[in-house]
Amino acid sequence: MAIQIYAHRGYSAIAPENTMIAFQKAVDAGAHGLELDVHLTKDHEMVVIHDETLQRTTNGRGRVRNLSLEEVRRVDAGSWFGDDFQGERVPLLSEVVALAARDGLSLNIELKNNKIAYEGLERQVIAMLEDYDMINQTVISCFDHYSLRRVKEVCPKVDTAILYMANLFEPWEYARHVGVTSIHPYRPTVTREMLTKSHALNLPVRPFTINQEKEMRRLIDMGVDALITDNVKEALNELKNRG
Ligand code: G3P
Ligand code: MG
Repeated sequence: MAIQIYAHRGYSAIAPENTMIAFQKAVDAGAHGLELDVHLTKDHEMVVIHDETLQRTTNGRGRVRNLSLEEVRRVDAGSWFGDDFQGERVPLLSEVVALAARDGLSLNIELKNNKIAYEGLERQVIAMLEDYDMINQTVISCFDHYSLRRVKEVCPKVDTAILYMANLFEPWEYARHVGVTSIHPYRPTVTREMLTKSHALNLPVRPFTINQEKEMRRLIDMGVDALITDNVKEALNELKNRG
């Protein structure tokens, strides 16, 4: 399969991360996939935001898990990035899934339950993907690898990826042990050996977050399966130039 470019939190180099305008700009730029982060509100609704709290990326305050959907939807998720983005909302997961389904993009849904254990998040995400017939176009990743086991229990056929920062020993073996089907490593830990060994076991490798053109070239030449990046156009250009 050709190398895929995943827009990290949408096209987050040019628009506020994890907002519909950032996802739409990624679609317009020609990204193959959208990476996004999902949390649960107090009333168990799935919302797309990176942090556990609203402070950094909205004009609101507080923890997502302590706020209702209505309270989360009231805040502005665009102004912090620039006046042009005023009025952007924290998206519902369903809005982003619908966009990807409509435009034929892949999804990388990152479950943000590594700091807060959101009861039932795995089951809810799978149900939503089934509603939109997006199981086969989605990879679910998480820093909590027990959560990935729960995903597999609910839906054995969905692609799952261990997400990690450390330089794991033989991550291809570990991935098999966990039972996932993909590897999403922190970028400096990618080596030729890991790519060869992972590919021999049919485990695609999609490193994050690749924003420098030099590193895009290095990883494309090494044979990664995807780049997860904030700089969608630069990555697509590098891909074209190497192809
Ligand atoms: O999924 C790749 C990447 O998004 C993981 O880290 O902190 O950007 O969500 P973070
Ligand atoms: Mg993420």
